[in-house]
Amino acid sequence: MSEVDEIPTLEDLEQQLGSLHGKRILVRTDFNVPLEGDPPRITDDFRIRAALPTLQWLQERGAQVVAASHLGRPKGKPDPKYSMDPVRARLAELAPDIELLENLRFEAGEEGNDPASAALLVEGIDGYVNDAFGASHRAHASIVGPPQAVPSAMGRLLQREVEVLLELRGNPRRPFVAVLGGAKVSDKLGVIEALLDIVDALAIGGAMCFTFFASRGLPIGDSLWEPDQVETCRRLLSIAEQRIHLPTDIVGLTAGGEVATFGTRLPDGAKGLDIGPGTAAEFGDIVMDARTVFWNGPMGMFEDERFAAGTRAVAQAVADTKAFTVVGGGDSAAALAEFGLDDDVDHVSTGGGASLELLELGDLPGLVALREGRRA
Ligand code: 3PG
Ligand code: MG
Repeated sequence: MSEVDEIPTLEDLEQQLGSLHGKRILVRTDFNVPLEGDPPRITDDFRIRAALPTLQWLQERGAQVVAASHLGRPKGKPDPKYSMDPVRARLAELAPDIELLENLRFEAGEEGNDPASAALLVEGIDGYVNDAFGASHRAHASIVGPPQAVPSAMGRLLQREVEVLLELRGNPRRPFVAVLGGAKVSDKLGVIEALLDIVDALAIGGAMCFTFFASRGLPIGDSLWEPDQVETCRRLLSIAEQRIHLPTDIVGLTAGGEVATFGTRLPDGAKGLDIGPGTAAEFGDIVMDARTVFWNGPMGMFEDERFAAGTRAVAQAVADTKAFTVVGGGDSAAALAEFGLDDDVDHVSTGGGASLELLELGDLPGLVALREGRRA
């Protein structure tokens, strides 16, 4: 299992380099921010702001900071849609005098983890900092390559993310409750199995609950589900029936398109789109009684106000509970921000996939690379 204290910190890097003054430091950030419109506009700069402590710490010590990130999934060649320009403009407002390279994924060697791409990145570079927690589950050139070549460290954001999530995984205050939502069981299977080893209760909302319903033989109407995951859901329920909390009521649309509240049996043609009020209250109580809470994934289609109540209730409970609260994943973080509750959570992770993978496996390719770089 990963030990965060085996990973070099910024202080270790400063010591290794003697001084940071005048040194060129490459910082891998995750500036993969949501964009909207044409020309693209940043709709949420959380990931940029989250990297500022590291960038500023380096600048205060006289380092020349070069930041690099991916943005979107441009498939290995330049695509103006995913240009770093809007990010560069925002970064310049928040922290002047930082050079920001063009989208790393404009080169096929980035995702292909080509050593030549990594070598190019560290040319003229004295040290490397990984602060891209949200991308550290990707064994891509900019994440795993540089630590083999130059003195390297984790940034403040990466460090805090790893400390918080490993504490949850290894030493949570109990009761420890996880609330999972989102559409697909298949995306979350690994983390569900890992969480069942550590949590006292696992509450499941989002469209994912319908595959669990189907595994119990309940009719789900036209709701989203994954037929090939039914067996898996049955097995998960059989090993942890007592600790898995599924919705007891559902809000959705009738076959005629009317909003309605259903029980756990959906009529023909009906579509479940949110947890119901009874379930929202129950999940809220579970969260209020917990001492540690991890929440990932909305409870319903909260972008539509008619189906936002379940996600809002969970977000409110996560904000109100005295428990130590951690929220992971872009959608849940966006929901929190939309409800104005993001300041009331102990830790909002900048990583979706990365936070789930760290909880599941206890380590990430980016962390392994930093640890091994130190030994080299
Ligand atoms: C994310 O947004 O999850 C990270 O930036 C990683 O992006 P990716 O899923 O495209 O690898
Ligand atoms: Mg992603």
